[in-house]
Amino acid sequence: MEKIRLQKYIAMCGVCSRRDAEELIKQGRVYVNGKKVEEMGLKITCEDKVEIDGREINPEKKKYYIMMNKPTGVLSSVSDDRGRKCVVDLIKGVDARLFPVGRLDYDTQGLILITNDGAFMQKLTHPSHEVWKTYEALVKGVPDKDDIKQFEQGLMLEDGMTLPCVLEVIGYEGKNAVVEVMIREGRNRQVRRMLEKINHPVIRLKRTKIASLELGDLKPGQWRFLTGEDFKALDMTDMEQA
Ligand code: URA
Repeated sequence: MEKIRLQKYIAMCGVCSRRDAEELIKQGRVYVNGKKVEEMGLKITCEDKVEIDGREINPEKKKYYIMMNKPTGVLSSVSDDRGRKCVVDLIKGVDARLFPVGRLDYDTQGLILITNDGAFMQKLTHPSHEVWKTYEALVKGVPDKDDIKQFEQGLMLEDGMTLPCVLEVIGYEGKNAVVEVMIREGRNRQVRRMLEKINHPVIRLKRTKIASLELGDLKPGQWRFLTGEDFKALDMTDMEQA
C-alpha cells in the first residue's frame, strides 16, 4: 500500500495546507494510531488512523473549487470568535469543509478562491510559485512616474523589500486616482502598505484577478464553481473539478 507523508495526508483531508499541517504536527496536535507524532518525516497509509485535536480526519473524496466576489465587511476565514461573517458562511448547499485560498482584508472586496483541496491552496499560495494578483484601488492623490518606478524596483516595507511589482494609473475620481497594482507575494496588507509608503493611501481596494482568472461580473457576495477555462486561467489544468 502506498505510503504518503503525514502533512500531505492532512492536506488531502482538506484540513489545511501542507505547511500549516507541519505547524499542527510541531504543536503536538496530531496523533497517528493513538500516538502523538514527534517526527516530521512520518509516512502513513490510508489504513492509519489520524486524529487532530482528538478528532479523526479522512480524505475528502469530492473536491470543490469556488470563486467569489468577497464583499467588504466579511472575513476571509472559516470562523470568527467574535461572530463576524466569514466567506464560507456565504456558500450554501456545499457539504464540505471549505476554506479560503489566501486572504483578503476585512475591508477589501473582490476575487477570492475557496476550496476543500489543500493541494490547490498550496499551489496558489506558496511563495515559490509567485502567482500574480491584480488589484484596483482608489488612492488619495495621483501617483507620478517616480512612484511607478519605485514599484518597478520593489519597495522597502517594515518586513523587508518587496519583489518588483506594477503600478499603473487607470482613471481619476476628482483629485484622486484609480490605480491598478500587480503583486506576486501575499504579505499582510501589502498593497495598502505599499501605497501608504508612496504617500497615496488606499481609499477603496478590490482584487480583480488571480493569475489570468478575472472576477468578471460576479456581484459582491455572489460565487460560482470554477470551470475548465478558469483552471486554464489559473494554469492548473491538472486539478480535478467539482
Ligand atoms: N493587499 C492588501 O493590502 N489588502 C488585501 O486585502 C490584499 C492585498
